[in-house]
Amino acid sequence: MAATDAIVASGVTKYYGRLRALDHVDLRVPAGGRFGLLGPNGAGKTTLIKVLTGLSEISEGEARVAGYDVRTDPMHVKQNVGWVASEVILDDDLSAWENLWLQAKLQRLDRWTERAENLLGYFELNDRRRDKVGTFSTGMRKKLEIALALLHEPRVIFMDEPTIGLDAGTRRTLWDLIRGVNAEFGITVLLTTHYIEEADVLCDRVAIIDRGRIVATGSPSELKSRVRTDFIEIEVTPPVPEARLREIPGVLEAKSSGPAWTLRVESAEAVLPRLLAALSGEGIRSIRVDKPSLETVFLDLTGKRLDAEGSGPVDYRKFYAQMRRARQ
Ligand SMILES: Nc1ncnc2c1ncn2[C@@H]1O[C@H](COP(=O)(O)OP(=O)(O)OP(=O)(O)O)[C@@H](O)[C@H]1O
Ligand SMILES: [Mg+2]
Repeated sequence: MAATDAIVASGVTKYYGRLRALDHVDLRVPAGGRFGLLGPNGAGKTTLIKVLTGLSEISEGEARVAGYDVRTDPMHVKQNVGWVASEVILDDDLSAWENLWLQAKLQRLDRWTERAENLLGYFELNDRRRDKVGTFSTGMRKKLEIALALLHEPRVIFMDEPTIGLDAGTRRTLWDLIRGVNAEFGITVLLTTHYIEEADVLCDRVAIIDRGRIVATGSPSELKSRVRTDFIEIEVTPPVPEARLREIPGVLEAKSSGPAWTLRVESAEAVLPRLLAALSGEGIRSIRVDKPSLETVFLDLTGKRLDAEGSGPVDYRKFYAQMRRARQ
């Protein structure tokens, strides 16, 4: 482990009974990084956070977090990491300040009030500090949860699906705040997500995890450059026969739905002029070029679409109602 690495995992494997939830995971996150674990439901994201934070034992392999071995020194690991669970851990009947106080007690912190003041300010919760958390919006709860996880001044923070159930605007606000936690507070961030855009715009490095295995790691742009095909979507009325599209050099595949065609092509720049020439005189209604995205990378590597896994937007009211019931 280099002195500048905040998280190093090598060959980390985790069994639940006979189920192999993590399969020889290798991971390296430099100090100060913003690392995203992208994967569908059941991929092993939460399990990886649990073993790296010392909450759950590793079956095989080794990991060091914030310089400490998670197998032999879990206490030091816990002192140096913050953890934001995907489910709610706040006490609804306490105010924001009282939740911070409770966290300080649980962590046995002596000097915490100045840090708590700073965090309330940073997360723009100052004017609601005396209100019961039960009256907070979903976004405010998530901000307070991150504040609680930062109270003991960890060097690394793990966030499990930090924006699940949030609307698009609140999600963007959280992204800015998480960037600030990383840049202004100088804390290494590892987060899990199944939102492609979140991994793309928020993380400097991404690992794609599927069925317990890391199938690719790299910066979002490195991952995108591995997919060597572009897509062109074109709508022509009246429809043109498939053969006319397939015979254009550079077209690898053509799929139709009604008058619209999706063409997988070697390079959109090369194929587009040929396509327009081949269809001159036809009624082209629309045309769109899709360059490689993390979505196409994911599809390429795992053969599945993330949003086809039941991982779409969550009805957050239903989600939190379930969580509250589960706590009672
Ligand atoms: N405590 C447990 N006991 C037995 N099996 C478990 C346990 N926790 C997780 N698993 C199984 O391990 C696998 C990985 O689960 P995990 O919760 O890590 O996935 P995930 O990527 O976090 O999924 P999600 O996106 O749904 O949160 C799944 O097959 C899950 O059913
Ligand atoms: Mg999970």
